[in-house]
Amino acid sequence: MKVVSKISELKNQIAEWKGEKYSIGFCPTMGSLHAGHLDLVETSKKETDKTIVSIFVNPTQFNDPKDFAQYPVKTDDDLLLCESKGVDLVFLPEVKTMYPETKTPISLSIPELQKNLCGRTRPGHFEGVLQIVAKLFHLTEPNKAFFGLKDYQQFRVISAMVENLNFPLEVIGVPTRREVDGLAMSSRNVRLTEKERETASLIPRMFALAKKTILSGERDLKLWKEILRDFLLTGPSVRIDYLEVVDPIELQSKEKLDGEILLAIAVFVGDVRLIDNQIIQIPN
Ligand code: PAF
Repeated sequence: MKVVSKISELKNQIAEWKGEKYSIGFCPTMGSLHAGHLDLVETSKKETDKTIVSIFVNPTQFNDPKDFAQYPVKTDDDLLLCESKGVDLVFLPEVKTMYPETKTPISLSIPELQKNLCGRTRPGHFEGVLQIVAKLFHLTEPNKAFFGLKDYQQFRVISAMVENLNFPLEVIGVPTRREVDGLAMSSRNVRLTEKERETASLIPRMFALAKKTILSGERDLKLWKEILRDFLLTGPSVRIDYLEVVDPIELQSKEKLDGEILLAIAVFVGDVRLIDNQIIQIPN
């Protein structure tokens, strides 16, 4: 496995692979890899000839400097994991490599898709994500790029950028990997205390309650959201950032519980922000 931090080294390797007509799979990450990231790698290895993982904690996507400062970094462990999974190349750039001084910073956004959910409560977040992902796509020239569906809005926003700006690649969403109790795997989970980790299991239980109440006939959207909110708030030190119901494609707020919906939440347990979502088909 190659580990490179310079753009020139990355470009040389890509040119060689392109010359040999290998297809390239790309898994962008911010490190602190867990089984969810390894699912991206596994899918990439099945679908392409060469797999690149990038590890870069992107400063421009953190709207909260404290969150950035506390983001876990475990590069040595990450590299061992990548090696054990047969990754071909890890791109590990420094901040100054990705963001050399520039007097004309660029901002990308897809306002319609960013109106709700994390786009609403984390101003600037998706601008930062699109900026870094666009740069990484240009540098790695992948045929396919793999993103976890836990970050569903991110998946939609990046897919829309690729479609809008004619990036020559396919964006593939990989299902969320979960702990035994159903909590979505996240690099942030390691920051939960034992007590907070217990509280966090309210999240998968809330999704189970959401499905159960729909199956038993609940169709009042406002009441349904209240039931789910009240359930989450039984946990100590839980603060709801958002609990929203939107359509899974345009991410616009739903007025009624019908068709296919995306139930998405962001919840602070202590000071750790956790997100999760499920697509639910509402029976007629
Ligand atoms: O999902 C992430 O880890 C990040 O948002 C990404 C896509 C690597 C961009 O920094």
